[in-house]
Amino acid sequence: MSRGTTAIINFDNLRHNFDVLSEMAPGKLVLVVKADAYGHGLQQIVKALDKAECFGVATIDEALLVRKVRKNVRILLLEGYLDENELKVAIENHFDCVIHQQQQIDLLQQINCKGKKLNIWLKFDSGMNRLGFSEKEFQDAIQLMESHEAVDELILMSHLASANLRQSNFTEMQAEKFLKFHTNQQLSLSNSSALLHGNHLKDEWCRVGLALFGVSPIETTMAEDYDLKPVMRLQTNIIAVKDIKSGESIGYSQTYIAEFDMKVAIIGIGYGDGYPWSLSKSAYVKINNQKAPIVGRVSMDMMAIDISEMKDVKIGDSVLIWGDEDAASLPIEIVAENANTIPYVLLCQITSRVHYQYVNQ
Ligand SMILES: Cc1ncc(COP(=O)(O)O)c(C=O)c1O
Repeated sequence: MSRGTTAIINFDNLRHNFDVLSEMAPGKLVLVVKADAYGHGLQQIVKALDKAECFGVATIDEALLVRKVRKNVRILLLEGYLDENELKVAIENHFDCVIHQQQQIDLLQQINCKGKKLNIWLKFDSGMNRLGFSEKEFQDAIQLMESHEAVDELILMSHLASANLRQSNFTEMQAEKFLKFHTNQQLSLSNSSALLHGNHLKDEWCRVGLALFGVSPIETTMAEDYDLKPVMRLQTNIIAVKDIKSGESIGYSQTYIAEFDMKVAIIGIGYGDGYPWSLSKSAYVKINNQKAPIVGRVSMDMMAIDISEMKDVKIGDSVLIWGDEDAASLPIEIVAENANTIPYVLLCQITSRVHYQYVNQ
């Protein structure tokens, strides 16, 4: 029997989500695959999405990993190049680059592009207050880039701060500010939330990450509300079964005291695999579609679950941590809510000792 802690990545569901999102987006998609494709495995995901036109990544290293497996696809550096060396690598490898500040324009002016051209995504700060030119600076930056000999396509972009909230007019306000600069350029504003909400612009490049992996970024909603299917199923095995007497404690710091005689299973996943320690209370996993509450603190490699009500549960049985779109499902959106976090964090913090299995390739 193995510990069995495995992330099963379902390519059928990935391709299903790609088709659903392509149908929703009237323009084109940038598939955001930074942070190891939100914990799903960068190169495997990129290879599977053979209909994709453009992938978005955060770092030059991620961009190079994508280029290794996809020679001709567009790869967008979402923070652009950060120094001269990165700019040279970007030119060599035909990366699309975000330019969000003057220092990047200066680098482009200084360097000899040797006749090569770049696609530039010029970023406006419409209210996120993270990256992007201010209202004062943006018009000049557009003019400069439109007439720059090293610029091939110019796309105007901005990033939304609150598209995931159900009650907010901030997205509208950001879009209004952004569109003031628009004449005839290509645009890119929406993320997954804006697209799923139907708040996207006509003909823009929507930059979708979380939704591609079959998870809803919008508060109080689930992936299935948008016909999306979770790409990851995280599972583990039962590694021990114990009888606990009423009054005995379970786990570190004795935070859980049994109120009656009970049966617990010890399962092979803990915070050393990326499972949140904060889920020591109020959360559950599933065995054969039945809820098994977590009892006591999550430890580094294991945690205890209450199986008192379950019949025929034994060492080696499989335990669902999150995922699946059928009746046995335990949506990651629910796990995140119980852990007082967001699904993005749960996916990104899965650690390297978790095994990955790719199915329906
Ligand atoms: C600039 C930018 N665009 C798009 C995205 C995709 O966002 P989401 O995963 O919510 O679709 C991100 C993700 O953080 C981002 O930083």
